[in-house]
Amino acid sequence: MPGHNRAPICLVSGGVAVVFDLATDELPSVVYWGRADGNHAIEAAEQLSLTSTPSVMNSSLDAPRAFTIVPTEREGWSGIPGIELRRAFQLAPRLSLVDVTSSGQAAEFTLRDGAAEVEIRVGYELDTFGVLSVSNRITNRGETPLEVVAARSLLPLPARAAEILDQTGRWSHERVPQRTPVRDGIHHRQVRRGRPGHDSPLLTVVGTPGFGFRHGEVWSSHVAWSGDQEWIVERLPEGAGTLSAVLGGNELLRAGEVRLAPGESYVSPSTLFAWSDEGLDGLSSRFHGHVRAFPSHPSTPRPLVLNTWEAVYFDHDHSRLLDLAERAASVGVERFVLDDGWFLGRTNDRAGLGDWTVDRKTWPAGLGEISASVHGLGMQFGLWFEPEMVNLDSELAREHPDWILAPNDTTGRPWRHQFVLNLAEPTVSDYLFDSISSLVAEYSIDFLKWDHNRDLHEAVSRLSGAPSAHAQTLATYALLDRLLLAHPGLEIESCASGGARVDLGILRRTHRVWASDTNDPIERQSIQRWTGMLVPPELVGSHVGPSETHTTHRVSTLPFRLVTALFGHAGIEWDLTRCSEDELAGLHEWAEFYKSRRGLLHAGTTVRADLTDAALALHGIVSHDRSAAIFAFVALVSTAVGHSERTVFPGLDPERSYRVRLRPELGSPSLHQISSPRWFTQAAEERGIELSGWLLSTAGVPLPVLNPGSAILLEFSDPNGPS
Ligand code: DGJ
Repeated sequence: MPGHNRAPICLVSGGVAVVFDLATDELPSVVYWGRADGNHAIEAAEQLSLTSTPSVMNSSLDAPRAFTIVPTEREGWSGIPGIELRRAFQLAPRLSLVDVTSSGQAAEFTLRDGAAEVEIRVGYELDTFGVLSVSNRITNRGETPLEVVAARSLLPLPARAAEILDQTGRWSHERVPQRTPVRDGIHHRQVRRGRPGHDSPLLTVVGTPGFGFRHGEVWSSHVAWSGDQEWIVERLPEGAGTLSAVLGGNELLRAGEVRLAPGESYVSPSTLFAWSDEGLDGLSSRFHGHVRAFPSHPSTPRPLVLNTWEAVYFDHDHSRLLDLAERAASVGVERFVLDDGWFLGRTNDRAGLGDWTVDRKTWPAGLGEISASVHGLGMQFGLWFEPEMVNLDSELAREHPDWILAPNDTTGRPWRHQFVLNLAEPTVSDYLFDSISSLVAEYSIDFLKWDHNRDLHEAVSRLSGAPSAHAQTLATYALLDRLLLAHPGLEIESCASGGARVDLGILRRTHRVWASDTNDPIERQSIQRWTGMLVPPELVGSHVGPSETHTTHRVSTLPFRLVTALFGHAGIEWDLTRCSEDELAGLHEWAEFYKSRRGLLHAGTTVRADLTDAALALHGIVSHDRSAAIFAFVALVSTAVGHSERTVFPGLDPERSYRVRLRPELGSPSLHQISSPRWFTQAAEERGIELSGWLLSTAGVPLPVLNPGSAILLEFSDPNGPS
């Protein structure tokens, strides 16, 4: 860059520093990403730059290797390239730096390849929580079309980041953690489902071996995008500059999917990166802060929900549903959501999708009566949609078979008897906007449950023949944005058969996710724990179901279900007209407790203990000033250990005292013992017990032995405050 100042650039925020070296003739490189240590990283930036060249190895490139912000073969990088482009042939662009802009928290590098007629702007932004967003803007400066094959964001990792943790899963058993060592070669997760999927990696974490919730140094990345994606950890024997493996990813593009006309640009989704030396809880705290700062993040208390799906399924008998709404209001529900089954011909899952008009056979007077009753009972009214989908047995598919997203005149394979609409066609999006928007206005709908019950396969536009998962994702975002603009205050849930569309692209324009279709508390303990790696609890729908869970047929106690559902945006998914008086009373007490504590539950810091026994879990939410906390201690299955050992409550302040109380509102715990530890017996009394924060957070206290499938709820408060 002519006349360019080659001083390093240092972004510092949230206790994290990212240092770019600009001193060499190569493109800029990230030479440090980690702890800021006050001003140390800033002061050492010149020296980081000075020390950023590795040895030249035997049988190697003649000059020291660099790993730049756009790593390609041009600089001798033999791993997966940062940017891949194609004009007549595949291009590894020979870029040079032409401009740099930077402030303390953001930097943008403009790179150009004059011969290839390409411009790339790589943008970095480090937020107050230490989360780094990276995105690429690629512009075609030539006269012929330019295809973007890949626009990945990659950061180098030190060699001590040697173990990978990410997630997999399936319907109703999402967010299953999996670990593997970093080895030479690539850990490459490719999501080709047109949505993140039940097996979404969710967050790739690479850390010091054995890292846990409360310990270890960890580096992580998330692809904030709701379509096809790739997630990468790669290590080459020659390393990456002076560092070792690389971490990142971005959108996965299909051949010919993004073809830029002269002058056109492609802006990649953001890949988000976070580092912590306080284990996984440290990462969650950064990501939760990042998400809570979204303009779309709800500022009102999260209303207690009743969702009708498992209560009535497709059986929309309107007097039964009115009865259900009354019961819901009487236990304290604040949002009543009418699920699938209300629209034209929708008596089962084989018909109706696409016809977004009220079925007058089931609802002769429309939805006016139920909406008015729900509002009259003081609740919000929510309605289910699955806008991107269509059944062949629908007026829409009969009239517009060409609206289906599939190659030529095929439909592709059905999934739950349904197919995908091509939202990238403006007529299709306009139809959906008009249908949904007019219902929102007519019935004063407060909340949309936005479902998406299948993967996209062969997502090819019939009209252009082009692959279309990218355009479909953008069109979905645009439709959501348009509806939110037209209806201020409207809230939307991202539900895709439960947890198949959980990502920070969709969460910029939705207000919660339905984490899973299972309400089984044993499954939910794990699903919510791992969803919570990225998403704060107030955005994770968690419902109490009946004693026998519909998805697993496992039977569980009401207290266990109540404790489990408390740690999220709570709700009920149960036919209340069939509940006993005791069950209704239990739900009512729980509802009151949820409402009185959601200020803490939905704004505090999520903490999870590293217990040695996998049969047990301990997790909680601690207020920011650490004066208050709520913890659940859970037995998932029987413990092999035959005693109750001292257990530490993470996140509490060792310098304070706490009043500790077993909360009785959620029912009595199911204990597997003759008597409880003495302190615990006292904690179960009205005034609880006062204990030092040091004891609780450092030495620990013995906990009672629980029966499998049970939990206790403990509250920690200021001993001088109200009890
Ligand atoms: C899948 C969702 O996850 C369920 O909660 C329910 O809305 C059904 N779809 C309705 O078809």
